[in-house]
Amino acid sequence: MFKIVHREEMAEGTVVLNEIEAPLIAKKAKPGQFVILKANEEGERIPLTMAETNPEKGTITIIYMVVGKSTALFKELKVGEGFQDVIGPLGKPTHLEKVGKVVCVGGGTGVAVLHPITRGLKDIGNDVTCIIGARNKGLLILEEQMKNASHDLRVCTDDGSYGHHGFVTDVLKDVLDSEDVKLVVAIGPVPMMKAVSQITKERNVETLVSLNPIMVDGTGMCGGCRVTVGNETKFACVDGPEFDGHQVDYDELMLRLRAYHEEERKCHNDYCT
Ligand code: FES
Repeated sequence: MFKIVHREEMAEGTVVLNEIEAPLIAKKAKPGQFVILKANEEGERIPLTMAETNPEKGTITIIYMVVGKSTALFKELKVGEGFQDVIGPLGKPTHLEKVGKVVCVGGGTGVAVLHPITRGLKDIGNDVTCIIGARNKGLLILEEQMKNASHDLRVCTDDGSYGHHGFVTDVLKDVLDSEDVKLVVAIGPVPMMKAVSQITKERNVETLVSLNPIMVDGTGMCGGCRVTVGNETKFACVDGPEFDGHQVDYDELMLRLRAYHEEERKCHNDYCT
């Protein structure tokens, strides 16, 4: 069992942080890599990118939104209880390079994935502006951590309850218009990553996105996580999860993510009633 040593609820209880004992993974993992977790023997395999690793303590931290039966089961696990399986680290680590001005854009729980990458980019000498957004103030996560991980943090809410009233893309356009940005990293809901990539493509600014399609084995064997990038089929679990944002077929990805929507909804409803 992989024991939970710390647990927090965020974003009005819709997002949960679990720090889990997993010493071998903590020792090897790098920013951008993910793990696959199962709550119990019959549980569904859920891929989640690590938000933090602590090799000294032997722990990894995951942050997830409660969206279906499996994540509802995860949410019920208390400190001292644990996950039956945690497999990883999986996927390729983020390629961290000193390029100059970098903008990191995060939405929803994508901010958790973005956090170690932002810090890694800052640590090697990049000038990092970070833009994070949520529907409202209560749903924002990791504001303080992102402030510390970057040189300049901009916050947006869709309803204007905090920070800039509007989308992360509004602020991104302002930054791109006023600074010589060399790299944008965007992680969050697929429509957000698509919108960011459209803006940066017009301005020819290199853009990295992290994809989270449906996964099963996480080792390149089942094909469940296939995505089209630059007209080629890629497996997000072994070729990614990060890809050139200008080359991703986002519409296909959104269709594939919706493939089991009805079954997921029914399963969640049955579990909650
Ligand atoms: Fe099976 Fe990627 S999850 S090939």
